[in-house]
Amino acid sequence: MKKLRSYYSNVRHHQKHHHPERTRWWWLLLPSLFFLLFLTTGPRFLPFTRPVLLTGSEPPSFVESKIKPKPVSSLPAPPRFAYLISGSAGDGKSLRRTLLALYHPSNRYVVHLDRASSEEEREDLNGYIRSSSLFRRFRNVDMIEKANLVTYRGPTMVANTLHAAAILLREGAEWDWFINLSSSDYPLMSQDDLLHVFSHLPRDLNFIDHTSNIGWKASQRAKPVIIDPGLYLNKKSDVFWVKQRRSIPTAFKLFTGSAWMALSRPFIDYCIWGWDNLPRTVLMYYSNFLSSPEGYFHTVLCNAEEFKNTTVNSDLHFIAWDNPPKQHPHHLTLADMDRMVNSNAPFARKFRREDPVLDTIDEELLNRGPGMPTPGGWCIGSHENGTDPCAVIGDTDVIRLGLGARRLETLVTSLLSPENFRPKQCK
Ligand SMILES: *[C@@H]1O[C@H](CO)[C@@H](O)[C@H](O)[C@H]1NC(C)=O
Ligand SMILES: *[C@@H]1O[C@H](CO)[C@@H](O)[C@H](O)[C@H]1NC(C)=O
Ligand SMILES: *[C@@H]1O[C@H](CO)[C@@H](O)[C@H](O)[C@H]1NC(C)=O
Repeated sequence: MKKLRSYYSNVRHHQKHHHPERTRWWWLLLPSLFFLLFLTTGPRFLPFTRPVLLTGSEPPSFVESKIKPKPVSSLPAPPRFAYLISGSAGDGKSLRRTLLALYHPSNRYVVHLDRASSEEEREDLNGYIRSSSLFRRFRNVDMIEKANLVTYRGPTMVANTLHAAAILLREGAEWDWFINLSSSDYPLMSQDDLLHVFSHLPRDLNFIDHTSNIGWKASQRAKPVIIDPGLYLNKKSDVFWVKQRRSIPTAFKLFTGSAWMALSRPFIDYCIWGWDNLPRTVLMYYSNFLSSPEGYFHTVLCNAEEFKNTTVNSDLHFIAWDNPPKQHPHHLTLADMDRMVNSNAPFARKFRREDPVLDTIDEELLNRGPGMPTPGGWCIGSHENGTDPCAVIGDTDVIRLGLGARRLETLVTSLLSPENFRPKQCK
């Protein structure tokens, strides 16, 4: 069909050039004629277009430079987020809590419990989502029912993230940023605060912490070759190493960073559709790379000319690493409360299930009652006697600002300042 379309544009162009007005009406019939011809003769008809194309005076151009990513949404502010919240065995309850803390009627949510969780636990989460009158009303929460087998540190993690992104892109795609979280993440401010600050930002920005200074990862990550059995076995088992080592890529430059990010819709569209081969080759390369979630999107983004100028070097998270860093960040507790707030970050990780610090965040930062969504301008019910203000729903475009907006504004202003923004892109 692609060829057919360029043929039509060629024909029309030709016509304008050589024939006067009087014959133009006839050419209007041409597309339908060719369509009929195509229907009756099928693709065999296509070679016929080649000589015509070759005689055109246009310089040769490559397919991938002609295809443009889906543009940013033209819907008025506030923007919309698309969240993936994933978990594993035993995470059902904390996943629900994170979902409620992140909830806003204009956003979209995909939740996933991987195949290490029991059928019963997944059924439970599914039942909860289906029976919630709030989620039913806005129909913006979906669960991936065919659970994926996800290996920690393995490429199946990236595959799972791409799977959710594909669903979100396919289902309307009326969103602006895709944000990948897990059930051990938690917001430090309301969605109203986030939506407010993001409504002042260009919608093509990609928030991703990255560097090409791969350091020790060159020998520990880039050279070893791993296999993720999650790609072909039915049961979960850890990745294993192949004896042989490989060299550092020369076809593209490796970037690495945090596995947490907020990616623009045009970039997700570019990764999922893959008309340019880069996202696909890099994905295949990373299928043998330990901790691929810390490199895949970073490497694609920074090697794509049309996207590298859109990066903002931040993962928008507060994450506390031990010194020296271990494989996992340390679990946040009440003792970290001040540092979390002062980081101005909208999200933090990682939290133990039902840790008391989450109650403090609910109370002090989100104004959220147990089992209720974080209230926003859309909640117009009473707050008294522990009732849910979101039980009465008003205009979902109304935003009620909290203190988080000021903090996020400070963070974003600093990230986009002349000394941080351009100088830290893909370096
Ligand atoms: C996405 O989310 C999961 C948490 O479930 C995380 O472990 C993973 O590394 C994230 N990032 C990517 C790029 O998949
Ligand atoms: C990205 O920025 C660089 C440096 O400012 C510029 O030369 C280049 O043309 C930009 N690329 C795109 C696609 O805008
Ligand atoms: C809250 O409870 C008090 C006493 O139980 C009652 O008088 C009041 O009307 C209640 N307020 C609302 C908004 O239900």
